[in-house]
Amino acid sequence: MQVIKRLIIGFAGTALLASCGAGGDDQGTEYAPNMYHSVAYEPYTQITDKEAGRWVTSIEYVRDSSETNFSDHAEYHNSNYINPFHMNMRLPAPNTVSRNKSGYLPYRLKKDSLQFAAATLVSPLDTAAANAKAILADGKVLYETYCDHCHGAKGEGDGKVADKYAGVANLKGDAIKGVSEGHIFHVITMGKGLMQPHGSQVSPEDRWKIARYVKSLQAAK
Ligand code: HEC
Repeated sequence: MQVIKRLIIGFAGTALLASCGAGGDDQGTEYAPNMYHSVAYEPYTQITDKEAGRWVTSIEYVRDSSETNFSDHAEYHNSNYINPFHMNMRLPAPNTVSRNKSGYLPYRLKKDSLQFAAATLVSPLDTAAANAKAILADGKVLYETYCDHCHGAKGEGDGKVADKYAGVANLKGDAIKGVSEGHIFHVITMGKGLMQPHGSQVSPEDRWKIARYVKSLQAAK
């Protein structure tokens, strides 16, 4: 009797442990599977009628080759009755334009709109004296990273690259000295003539900081 009991316990134990083995699409036996599998929201699905068409699949469903078994519910929430059209995704609020992470609207001015940009764009950076120093300090670092090698430390068009790359503008020259921050912002963003655009490398906020710093260079003797 003892031997049989041990054998039964042994077999039962082995079977129990073997069922834990997972691999490939087989997740093994799970206790409280909801705790392992978070319920994902599929953004574009809007299925409300479970009987109609194919129910969005779960791994379990795919395995059922008969394709007639709809009883297994997928691991997804396939519709959300709170949202328009029962979509899981929320539509953006009407008449709104999404901003980037730093809160800026998309830049829609064309390269040849320099005059318009120069006249209308206003720097969103704080003009309070308390922040002026920090903005200029950031602007300096950014200028040294992105502009110095062409335009030179003082903006006089005498950076190292200017030796090889003819035509680098002297930012303190009469024609450029008086330009607005918006003008500089647009030139950094879109480039001008021989200068290539830097819009993809430098964030809008950083471009405004550089523009502020360039103004300070232009004001310096
Ligand atoms: C690869 C060299 C190069 C780099 C880097 C460069 N520039 Fe220029 N920049 C030029 C050249 C060349 C011109 C003259 C463009 C022309 O008129 O053809 C110019 C012109 C300008 C002008 C004058 C635009 C006008 O209205 O005539 C400004 C302002 C300016 N750059 C600012 C910057 C700032 C700010 C940076 C850094 C973000 C920068 N540039 C980076 C080469 C460069």
